[in-house]
Amino acid sequence: MNWGDCHGGRPKIIYRENLLNLIDGNNYLPMKNTELSNSQALKKIIFERIATSRQQRITFAEYMNLVLYHPQYGYYSSGVVGIGAKGDYFTSVSLGQDFGELLASQFAEMWQLMGCPRPFSLVEMGAGNGRLAVDICNYLQAARPDLLETLEYIIVEEARELINRQQQLFQELLPNKKINCNWKSWQEIPENSLTGCCFSNELVDAFPVHQIIIRGGELQEVYLTETQGELTETYGEVSRAKLADYFKLVGVNLPNKNFPENYRTEVNLAALDWLKIVTNKLQKGYLLTIDYGYPATKYYHPQRSQGTLQCYYHHRRHNDPYINLGYQDLTAHVDFTALERQGELLGLEKIGFTQQGLFLMALGLGDRLNELSSGKYNILQVMQRRDALHQLVDPMGLGGFGILVQGKELREEEKLLKGLTVPPLF
Ligand SMILES: C[S@@+](CC[C@H](N)C(=O)[O-])C[C@H]1O[C@@H](n2cnc3c(N)ncnc32)[C@H](O)[C@@H]1O
Repeated sequence: MNWGDCHGGRPKIIYRENLLNLIDGNNYLPMKNTELSNSQALKKIIFERIATSRQQRITFAEYMNLVLYHPQYGYYSSGVVGIGAKGDYFTSVSLGQDFGELLASQFAEMWQLMGCPRPFSLVEMGAGNGRLAVDICNYLQAARPDLLETLEYIIVEEARELINRQQQLFQELLPNKKINCNWKSWQEIPENSLTGCCFSNELVDAFPVHQIIIRGGELQEVYLTETQGELTETYGEVSRAKLADYFKLVGVNLPNKNFPENYRTEVNLAALDWLKIVTNKLQKGYLLTIDYGYPATKYYHPQRSQGTLQCYYHHRRHNDPYINLGYQDLTAHVDFTALERQGELLGLEKIGFTQQGLFLMALGLGDRLNELSSGKYNILQVMQRRDALHQLVDPMGLGGFGILVQGKELREEEKLLKGLTVPPLF
């Protein structure tokens, strides 16, 4: 099994958050001719956007939006995105069905706690290759057909090519199964219409972020401009007041004398907009967000002077967002404090925050590990599955991801989720 890259003879798995797996250098893997010409075409589009914008510059967020989501050439929209062994990075979903099954068991408990409403909506936002949706539906069909029968599974996905891929996977892996799965845009979902759970895995880290920088003791923003046919960074006053307001929201006093000159970080305003949309669609239920990130005080620590922006290309991680245009992923860590605070302003209550490892253990991952000794599996299966389960809970990797559960209009007893209880020792 190819678990990713080899570096210095040591096999490495490249998740999108684990700084221990950073591979220095070799960011400039040769691109194929078609890739080069698509990349050049995207660069031309970016230059056109710069030329027609006020002051001939675009924010880093606009740039990131183009390289990831330009309808024809963006990394996600064009469908070149590769998640898994043959792609650019792994997610928990790439490690087999355990992740989806354990999540599904949490959804089943939510449904029960809410008194088995009919219909119950599960809204997966940013479904990647569709594997998680398939794993969840498969599990529910086998373990909770009563829920599946009343379930509406909705996928909200930005990238057209990924929607095609997700629909294809459903046809391949769930043929002739009666699963009520629909792909919708937010516009197609009425306000206050959902009873259930909206959830995402590694969605928020894929939103375009503004980059800000401290210069002369002032908060400034990073912009992109064109200089002699090259993309160049330039700095100027922040593009919108919301950027300064953001730090008030999360309770960080920035800038101040503790932050060094040229301190650079990111602000994910798109996450706040997204939260508002989701909250408005939810009539009653949960919002479950899984991602890598920090609380604001850790995110905006003076010593984290270069922010968290990372680029992924063929299982190599680096920090140059201006190469491999449209062929590499760009991502920034999530500020969980912002999601909590903005959620409170919108009427979402924090139900709990935990780490993925603890969450999955509480939902029975330990039992799955124990079951591997039952004699039902051959040695290869045992080794592979045990490795996958360990990776899902590894506190230095996927197990260290944050899981934020927020709720709307929930009664006290509906907030007592198994995934948020402290797992028993084993
Ligand atoms: C890093 S991938 C994660 C995929 C999948 N959840 C997984 O864990 O393997 C991010 C996904 O979010 C989608 N996405 C990004 N922005 C989105 C938005 N505003 N609405 C819906 N999906 C979005 C991307 O197209 C992609 O499918």
